[in-house]
Formats: sequence, C-alpha cells, structure tokens
Amino acid sequence: MPKCKIGVLISGGGTNLQSIIDATNQGRLDAKVELVVSNKKNAYGLQRAEKHGISNCYIGKMNYPDFDNRSDALLKALSDNEIDLIVMAGYLEIVSPKLIEAYGDKIINIHPSLIPNYCGKGFYGMHVHEAVKNNNEKFSGATVHFVDEGVDTGQMIIQEAVRLCPEDSPEDIQKKVLKVEHRILIEAINKYVNGEI
Ligand code: GRF
Repeated sequence: MPKCKIGVLISGGGTNLQSIIDATNQGRLDAKVELVVSNKKNAYGLQRAEKHGISNCYIGKMNYPDFDNRSDALLKALSDNEIDLIVMAGYLEIVSPKLIEAYGDKIINIHPSLIPNYCGKGFYGMHVHEAVKNNNEKFSGATVHFVDEGVDTGQMIIQEAVRLCPEDSPEDIQKKVLKVEHRILIEAINKYVNGEI
C-alpha cells in the first residue's frame, strides 16, 4: 500500500501531473495518484489520468457556476477518495477558505517563478514568463510551497533557479522552468510523504 493518496488539481496539459504519475509508477515516490480534478473541461491532463486508469472529473463553471457549490463539490470529491495530500499542479482557480481549513497543511502548489518574484494575482502561465522576458532577467525558476489563503504566499518548500540566455523567448523560458518544476515537485512530495516537512 502506498504511503500517501494524492489528489491532483489541474487546469491544462498536465505535464506536472504526468511527472507525478511516472514517479509513482517507477517507485521514486511512495504514493498513488488517486484522483485528478480539472476546472477546465477539455484539459489534456484529464486524458492522461484516464490513460493511467486514475479516477478523474471536471468540476468547473459549467457544471457548478456558483463558487461555493463548486468548492463543496471539490471538497466532496477529495474526501470521497480519502485524499491525504492535495497537489495543485497548474490549477488556475483560487481554492476556498473551507478547503484550506479542511486540509490545512496538506495542500501544495507549484509556481513557475522564483517567489516572491513574479507571483500573486495575474502571474500565472505564460504571463509569468513574458514578464520575466520583458525585464531581461538572467534567472528564473520554480517554487513549490504550501497553500494558504493568499495567492502564492504559503510557506516555501523547495525553490530552484535556472539560468536564462538573452535570446530565450518566453516559450524557451517556459520549457526551462518546466524541466525544473517536474523535478522539484517530486522532491517536495517525497519530503511530505517521508515526514520531512
Ligand atoms: C506550470 O508551469 C505550473 O507551474 C503553472 O502552470 C503550468 C502547468 O503546466 N502553474 P502543466 O499543466 O503541468 O503542463
């Protein structure tokens, strides 16, 4: 029996989700992805979950237009699946205070920048990498942190920088940062599973 049942929240392609699935399948992570929830109906990450026989569902504005109902549906899906750890892997929705209260320090998020730089409201996805490019930064990186009621304000778990070249486009920056994300997300989950954090 794996030590930890993970619920992964996504909104998009799910490459971070894939890296968690691969790590569990390859024995690099003593955990199981039990549930994948997307707030975007056509997120490719849902197909990845399906392919690996992982329970998955869409909980978004189309089936739950009201924020509170949507949050309750998410909370129910997580508790029905007895989730031990929630991983927000590219999940583009604020989680409700109720969910944070219910799961406390059992929610982590991956962010594609060196927090406290390029984080908070409006800094998500390509917006982050475009801003990094516009400011001619020499470094960017990724951060895994606990989730609290703020946006990207929870306690940091791991952060790693990546060196940029002047000619890197926002897409190049994204690729470099994603590579780091895939590695440090697994490191952070391992720390959690092994009781080191
Ligand atoms: C990642 O860069 C993540 O940090 C950000 O959104 C992106 C999601 O990528 N919040 P993917 O869906 O895991 O491929």
